[in-house]
Amino acid sequence: MKRVLVTGGAGYIGGTVSILLRDAGYSVTVLDNLTHARREAVPAGVNFIEADIADRPMVEAALRELRPDGVLHFAALIEAGESMVKPEIYFRNNTASTLSLLEAMLAADVKNLVFSSTAAVYGEPDVTPIPETAKLQPTNAYGESKLLVEQMLAWFQRVHGFKTATLRYFNVAGALDGRGEQHEPETHLIPIILDTALGKRKSIAIYGDDYDTPDGTCIRDYIHVADLANAHIRALERLHEHGRILVNLGNGKGFSVKAVIEAARRVTGAVIPAEVKPRRPGDPARLVASSEQARELLGWEPEHADLDEIVASAWKWHQQRFGA
Ligand SMILES: NC(=O)c1ccc[n+]([C@@H]2O[C@H](COP(=O)([O-])OP(=O)(O)OC[C@H]3O[C@@H](n4cnc5c(N)ncnc54)[C@H](O)[C@@H]3O)[C@@H](O)[C@H]2O)c1
Repeated sequence: MKRVLVTGGAGYIGGTVSILLRDAGYSVTVLDNLTHARREAVPAGVNFIEADIADRPMVEAALRELRPDGVLHFAALIEAGESMVKPEIYFRNNTASTLSLLEAMLAADVKNLVFSSTAAVYGEPDVTPIPETAKLQPTNAYGESKLLVEQMLAWFQRVHGFKTATLRYFNVAGALDGRGEQHEPETHLIPIILDTALGKRKSIAIYGDDYDTPDGTCIRDYIHVADLANAHIRALERLHEHGRILVNLGNGKGFSVKAVIEAARRVTGAVIPAEVKPRRPGDPARLVASSEQARELLGWEPEHADLDEIVASAWKWHQQRFGA
């Protein structure tokens, strides 16, 4: 049986990928420090180690014992806004702690890694849809903390023969197998809109309606977590063949903030009041992935690209989790 170690596997995305890996016959061990997830969020049927990725002795011992075929590395702090208030905790937790993980992998001779990167490495791109070759110019410390990891991976590959898949996610959304998006604090658009539909917030803020887009609001690329998870399994299984994979993971389709609110109104039947507020600094008008590389290298195709389907799956979960 193939074995994997999943860091951050108690979280939204790592947990979903763990479930898919488990169901595909992998022996899955989740390593998570539970700073941003509850113990109950560790999927059933996987092994669990409560530890920080920076706990070098613990991580190295786990790797030596498990001898995994690969590590899937999701553990990170993910709030771009917070990273502009406390950049140091992002460089510590996302960059320095990942170096510690890489050192433990090197010591234990485990050299296959799938890494969760982000569209935030592109900052404000000058091309759209964004190819992987676009300029890397993060506009927040979160994006920079991930870009630094990408650079470390390139050196571990070159010098130590690591095989790495770097997956740059766009906006991940939706729910799978009773597991949906929940962050504390929540800053992602779809869960905030759904909270408004449930009456837990008075209205949803639209930051700027004077962008150069058809309806004036920002356009983002939403990828269903099921499609994202599927791409991880493909990346892991093709790592031997390719040695290095670097791909965007998005739908390749963009939806404006107003379009997402409209979709949520259709799906939920709720009014969902919205209020236009001034633009937020550093919010690019359009962030849409070119997903050609993922299609070519992973033979991957998003199967849940329809916005209403993504919102409906999130809504079903959101009601169960947060409804009265
Ligand atoms: N959610 C998105 O739309 C999105 C977009 C782009 C990239 N990403 C990346 O995907 C990954 C997963 O994101 P998510 O939305 O599931 O976040 P999440 O907060 O739900 O999950 C992250 C998990 O990592 C754990 N963790 C954090 N630091 C740790 C450490 N030092 N040691 C051990 N565990 C630690 C947390 O407890 C949590 O369970 C992150 O790397 C994030 O940067 C997410």
